[in-house]
Amino acid sequence: MTFRARILGAAAGGGLPQWNCGCENCNLARSGDIPAQTQSSLAVSANGTDWAILNASPDIRQQMADCPVLHPTGLREMPLRSVLLTNGDIDHVAGLLTLREMQPFTLYATPGIQEVLDGNPIFSALNASVVDRATVHLDKPTEIAPGLSATLFSVPGKVPLYLEGDTVQTDLLGDQTVGVHLQAGETDAYYIPGCALLNDDLRARLNGAALVFFDGTLWQDDEMLRAGIGQKTGKRMGHMSMSGPDGSLAAFDTLDVGRKVYVHMNNTNPVLRPASPERARAQAAGWTIGQDGMEIAT
Ligand code: MLT
Ligand code: MN
Ligand code: ZN
Repeated sequence: MTFRARILGAAAGGGLPQWNCGCENCNLARSGDIPAQTQSSLAVSANGTDWAILNASPDIRQQMADCPVLHPTGLREMPLRSVLLTNGDIDHVAGLLTLREMQPFTLYATPGIQEVLDGNPIFSALNASVVDRATVHLDKPTEIAPGLSATLFSVPGKVPLYLEGDTVQTDLLGDQTVGVHLQAGETDAYYIPGCALLNDDLRARLNGAALVFFDGTLWQDDEMLRAGIGQKTGKRMGHMSMSGPDGSLAAFDTLDVGRKVYVHMNNTNPVLRPASPERARAQAAGWTIGQDGMEIAT
């Protein structure tokens, strides 16, 4: 068995270009000078035939159209076996509404994330007679496609933006923001598209992994303020940045990880420009900058 992962969408919520954004990257993507990227999602398989999709982005319709291994194999036969959610953010759940066409698959999520879906009646468009909602508890391995096991673990994060109250804890440890440990044969891979902090527990977990897809939302914490397009820092959004002493470049530097791939990149992130010095720095530190359609096999 060969573990295969295909990046369906490498961008964070909004995508590149984001519909209402006139920042440098969004304009470059509109003019075709840098590659556009769709919103956060990864397809994974242990046999190349049966696939699970990790997070259902608002762009899932186009992502599946652009991905031959996810095309129908018969009149209504699909290689898609399951969808697994790592949080309840719009960029990770809105695509579920596109999957409402009476096609059987299993929807995996933690109790906390299932509760968020249950609280939104629009998701009942996924007819329960064909889409089985399976609750997955933390640290309990579950087979999400033949030969492919997923174990969810808690990652520091926050509740979805649309559920934020007056006060928000941005490094909450619970079951509303999770990472995924994927195992296929001898391969250990991790998918963590949102992470506020790489704590000691996570560091120990990731050390020795063959492959890690990790939160690449921002290059620097105040990037959106500097670009003049928002008031929020990465920390406030529950995302650790790439650069700086608290960043993921520094945090992974002392870890033994075979392949490190950034995903969930916000459209302001300079690494999205192929010729940028920031991208060169990340690559020199051993990182691959994810992009739509990129496939990684181990
Ligand atoms: C995030 O990753 O911070 C969220 O997807 C933000 C959003 O809901 O747009
Ligand atoms: Mn997001
Ligand atoms: Zn932009």
